[in-house]
Amino acid sequence: MKLRKYIATCAVVTMFGAILLAGCGGNNDKPESTPEAAVEKTEEPAKATEAPEDNKPKDASQMSLKDEYKDLFSIGVAVNSWQLADQETLDVITKDFSSFTCENEMKPDYVLDYDKTIESEDGMPEINTENMDKIMTMAEEAGLKMRGHTLVWHSQTPEWLFHEDYDEDKDYVDKDTMLERMEAYIKKVLTFCNEKHPGTVYAWDVVNEPASDDKGLREDSPWFKTIGKDYIEKAFEYARKYAGEGVKLFLNDYNTEVNDKRNVLYNVVRNLHEKGLIDGFGMQSHHDREYYNADEVKATITRFAQLEGLEIQLTELDMHYNDNSEEAMTEQAEAYRAMFDILVELDKEGLADITNVTFWGLNDGSTWLTAHKQEDSYPLLFDKDNVAKPCYYSIFDAVAASDK
Ligand code: GLA
Repeated sequence: MKLRKYIATCAVVTMFGAILLAGCGGNNDKPESTPEAAVEKTEEPAKATEAPEDNKPKDASQMSLKDEYKDLFSIGVAVNSWQLADQETLDVITKDFSSFTCENEMKPDYVLDYDKTIESEDGMPEINTENMDKIMTMAEEAGLKMRGHTLVWHSQTPEWLFHEDYDEDKDYVDKDTMLERMEAYIKKVLTFCNEKHPGTVYAWDVVNEPASDDKGLREDSPWFKTIGKDYIEKAFEYARKYAGEGVKLFLNDYNTEVNDKRNVLYNVVRNLHEKGLIDGFGMQSHHDREYYNADEVKATITRFAQLEGLEIQLTELDMHYNDNSEEAMTEQAEAYRAMFDILVELDKEGLADITNVTFWGLNDGSTWLTAHKQEDSYPLLFDKDNVAKPCYYSIFDAVAASDK
């Protein structure tokens, strides 16, 4: 990586990074994840390319990220159910990854069922379990664990959930009613998972993106507007009450490497940790060539690792490059390598309990970033044909170097 990319945190750069990345998940108007129809569906097992570091040809088809990292942390990927249903794609997934996150299908928009809700006898939100059931069954058959994503979020959540009679034209319900609705919804989702598929979803992003990009909590979230700032703690209280034994509860956010946001999130997580309500902190990790700073990644992990027993996961890792020239992809490999050097070092030395790293998408042909950035994006480990890129190999090099 060029030196300029590594120059320690410059406040101005970080600030612009924050602004640029603010749309990662923080904006209701953001283009959401890549729709199924628009995604490249031709999947082939990874092919051999040259290794960047020692020039010996390595054969990606004989390599497995999840095996290489098994003593440190599990490796996951965000997918859609059509990818799990396609055997060739599933083979690509199971070779390198041991867990997955649904890119969309476990978000409130997909799980809450309006028709059932307006007819429910107790007036509480109802959920649709059919698709979740199908996905969890596929996970079990493939031997994959899942991260549950996500229960309480300002985005991709139906607006009707917050209004009287579930009618958007009416006022917001009062705080007590919204708390009852929140509890009923969390209870139904977690009870279903626990009773029907115990152990498959091993962790939940209970609250996603509670911090704003402006030094505080996200006050324009309908959860905040109806319940107030307690909504975060209440969500964790309910999740703790209904999650199966051993299911880990996470708070998840983006731009966690930006100092002001890191401080806000740290205070929220510390409070939950003191009350025994949280098990882990999720750093989404949507990075960008221009603003990526490995030192800030390290600073965030070591800060949260001060909270005893708190797990750290990188939950949505990708690194936006709008250029896939050899030079750019070599630079990207070095950037990923620098990050994995840090993860390996901190976890091995017992300085942080890193338990999972999940890539937000399988390959460069199925990344949300191309739509989001409105330009080509090459952020992931495999190209659109599932050929392993230089960054795939550099991540192996990080763990191999630590063994020497
Ligand atoms: C955020 C959300 C994810 C996803 C990504 C972009 O980070 O947590 O669910 O929507 O944005 O696709």
